Amino acid sequence: MTSLIPAPSSVGGPEGRPFVLDEDTEIEAGRDAKGVARWLRATVGAATGLPLEPYTSGASRILLRITPTLADELGSPEAYRLTVDEHAVVIDGAGREGLFYGAQTFRQLLGPAAFRRAPVTSERTWEVPPVTIGDAPRFRWRGLMLDVARHFMSKDGVLRYLDLMAAHKLNVFHFHLTDDQGWRVEIKRYPRLTEVGSWRARTKFGHGASPLWEEKPHGGFYTQDDIREIVAYAAERHITVVPEIDVPGHSQAAITAYPELGNTDVIDTTSLTVWDSWGISLNVLAPTDNTLRFYEGVFEELLELFPSEFIHIGGDECAKEQWRESPLVQARIEELGLADEDELQSWFIGHFDKWLSARGRRLIGWDEILEGGLAEGAAVSSWRGYAGGIAAARAGHDVVMCPEQQVYLDYRQDAGADEPVPIAYVRTLEDVYRFEPVPPELTPEEAAHVLGAQANVWTEVMEDQGRVDYQTFPRLAAFAEVAWSPLPAPAERDFADLERRMAAHYELLDALGVGYRPPTGPLPWQKRPGVLGRPIEGAPPNK
Ligand code: ACM
Repeated sequence: MTSLIPAPSSVGGPEGRPFVLDEDTEIEAGRDAKGVARWLRATVGAATGLPLEPYTSGASRILLRITPTLADELGSPEAYRLTVDEHAVVIDGAGREGLFYGAQTFRQLLGPAAFRRAPVTSERTWEVPPVTIGDAPRFRWRGLMLDVARHFMSKDGVLRYLDLMAAHKLNVFHFHLTDDQGWRVEIKRYPRLTEVGSWRARTKFGHGASPLWEEKPHGGFYTQDDIREIVAYAAERHITVVPEIDVPGHSQAAITAYPELGNTDVIDTTSLTVWDSWGISLNVLAPTDNTLRFYEGVFEELLELFPSEFIHIGGDECAKEQWRESPLVQARIEELGLADEDELQSWFIGHFDKWLSARGRRLIGWDEILEGGLAEGAAVSSWRGYAGGIAAARAGHDVVMCPEQQVYLDYRQDAGADEPVPIAYVRTLEDVYRFEPVPPELTPEEAAHVLGAQANVWTEVMEDQGRVDYQTFPRLAAFAEVAWSPLPAPAERDFADLERRMAAHYELLDALGVGYRPPTGPLPWQKRPGVLGRPIEGAPPNK
């Protein structure tokens, strides 16, 4: 019995002597498999200190090859088969993705020490017992969203998260790049977006109702070359980066940088600052032609940087107060023949749906984009529960299921007083394991619109990597299994078996240097109430 997470579809194989990875082991890889061979050398080679040279002689071999028929045989273009015997490790991938996932599985079979970056002893032997694994993902969208707007994560930190995703066979990185509290991507034609919008003077500390601020500037952004590097690094790991520019709400940082983007007849937008608190800012974009042209400019640069089919335009939590009060906006609603502010939001989103479609891309937005009519071709990230996703799938739109009640990893992991920042619902490892992306209400045809699932990491309460690790892990491991493995209905899932396998997985996370929440609760320094060293009273929901 293996301890693999996510669990593969089938595990079998003969009894026998193990495969031994040693100085004589060589990698045989055809042209399409060179990338995976490079990755194996860089990871397993570094952890073991073994050369893993290209195959010449035949002493001991890892064979990497593309076997397209596996796609039909195992039901997915991402499928792989891994066969280990005394003489060889053979990884067949239906395509390059499958080959990569097979290599990931092989690394897990070598044990936690294979996840280190250098050998800790030259004494040990590296063995894998004989096994045959046939495996393929349940969903094609296995996502993680990281909010780098509320708290910036350095480029190195992002690359590290891409590695952590790859180790869990996740394949979509939803990059939440802009929000009220910061703009994180260089846009050459609008330099103030990062000059002004990428940092804030101070930061609310803790949840929205906390009376505390951290009185120091916070910020950062990725240059376009940083983004190119991130996208290329992700692609080497078969991860697609889906960028999000959140409009027309969550835009205070952009309005601070370019005050003409705001509702200037309602407020003096020149006096705004990049927001230092949490919640829903009332400062939203003015739905003018100028705003549309501005964001077309932003998206033009973005399309150059991100090759992904989907581009995320946010669309969530757009406060309508300013639109209701603004004579200019009301005149716009009338001019466009729209019924109300909800339809105005749909018109705004619809504009970018058409704009992106004309350039061969597809729009995806949070489920609020359903209100007032969903633009044709748009896909939905269903976050306020399942309802938005169900409505969208029934209307023939693609859906990514990421209900906050289930897979918002900023939410607390335990009801105990020791949780570092106790916001929103308790969602334990087991709760996440029992998350089902396809609601039973959907017919098979409708369910086919569920592209997959995504865990979302909002960082209002996570001011550094330690906090992000703590909130994200171990729950991301359970999530990965939900997104990848053929699990039974939630009530029938064997959580005891997951816990058994987690014992090995914690060692793997330790080897990777992940500051996860231990099963026994937070460690003393993880309990810390935060950088100010002061407790935060109360525990209202963050949203
Ligand atoms: C969201 O949590 N506002 C998408």
